Amino acid sequence: MAINKTILVTGCSSGIGLCCAQELKQHGYRVFASARKAKDVEQLQAQGFETVQLDLSDSQSITQAVEQVLDKTGGQLYALFNNAAYGQPGAVEDLSREVLREQFETNVFGTQELTNLIIPVMRQQGYGRIIYNGSVLGIIALPFRGAYNASKYALEGLTDTLRLELYGSGIEVSIIEPGPVTSQFRKNAFLKYQQNIDKEKSFFKTSYEGMEARLKKPGPAAPFTLPPEAVFKKLQHALESKHPQPHYYVTFPTYLFGTLKRILPARGLDWVLRRVSKGENKC
Ligand SMILES: NC(=O)c1ccc[n+]([C@@H]2O[C@H](COP(=O)([O-])OP(=O)(O)OC[C@H]3O[C@@H](n4cnc5c(N)ncnc54)[C@H](OP(=O)(O)O)[C@@H]3O)[C@@H](O)[C@H]2O)c1
Repeated sequence: MAINKTILVTGCSSGIGLCCAQELKQHGYRVFASARKAKDVEQLQAQGFETVQLDLSDSQSITQAVEQVLDKTGGQLYALFNNAAYGQPGAVEDLSREVLREQFETNVFGTQELTNLIIPVMRQQGYGRIIYNGSVLGIIALPFRGAYNASKYALEGLTDTLRLELYGSGIEVSIIEPGPVTSQFRKNAFLKYQQNIDKEKSFFKTSYEGMEARLKKPGPAAPFTLPPEAVFKKLQHALESKHPQPHYYVTFPTYLFGTLKRILPARGLDWVLRRVSKGENKC
């Protein structure tokens, strides 16, 4: 069966989303590149993309974006790449209910609301690919990433469940789990830290000063950082293979921690993760 290679990608203003949208276009896909800010939508249009404005924290924006895409495709869509997300830094004890909610509104609730609008379309056509951008931080935790960790763990739960529920429907669900990748991620995380964390009132004031240095550091901040093209390779497999994998690891840290998670007892893994993160937030 000839498949129309249409794909909706979220979060194409920068980083992995932008790179994957560009690569997909070069590989012959009809890409609907979405971004939440009008100026980014304009820039994507200038690059020759079909675009929609889509803010995952806003249900109306999600519904309108889906309507616009389906209008243009005659109600069909081969694939959805749930890429957009941000990281809210901060110790768990410093996260207000509101800040946690905000993290989940974008990374989890909005992502799933969008997906749930697309699933009936794919069920109707009898095929489709849904690919989430998870993280190594959906497999293991690190200090001061609790909100983000929780959101990416939540995506693991949703994708594992969806695979069971969509079995036999012709719709395949995969999650890509990158470790460190070059993008605007730390810059955006730093903004969220500034907006939402009160360093002066925190038990972790000194650690935060170290964390600020890491978030502001130009260039790769972690060893084994890869360019976003590394994610595209896995995305392409998830889209084009007859047998897409449920999980795609990207970067050495994901392979390492994915293995350690399987073989070590919880306290053994904690010991490793404490050591890994020990120097991370020092000034
Ligand atoms: N970079 C890494 O090391 C790494 C590692 C593992 C997983 N990931 C995952 O990779 C994905 C892409 O991140 P990235 O590294 O490419 O970072 P990025 O450059 O910061 O890109 C994130 C994208 O998500 C968008 N976004 C944020 N909030 C949104 C909202 N409410 N609605 C719609 N879009 C929103 C951003 O738009 P704005 O420009 O408008 O903020 C941006 O386009 C994320 O799911 C991230 O968790 C990244």
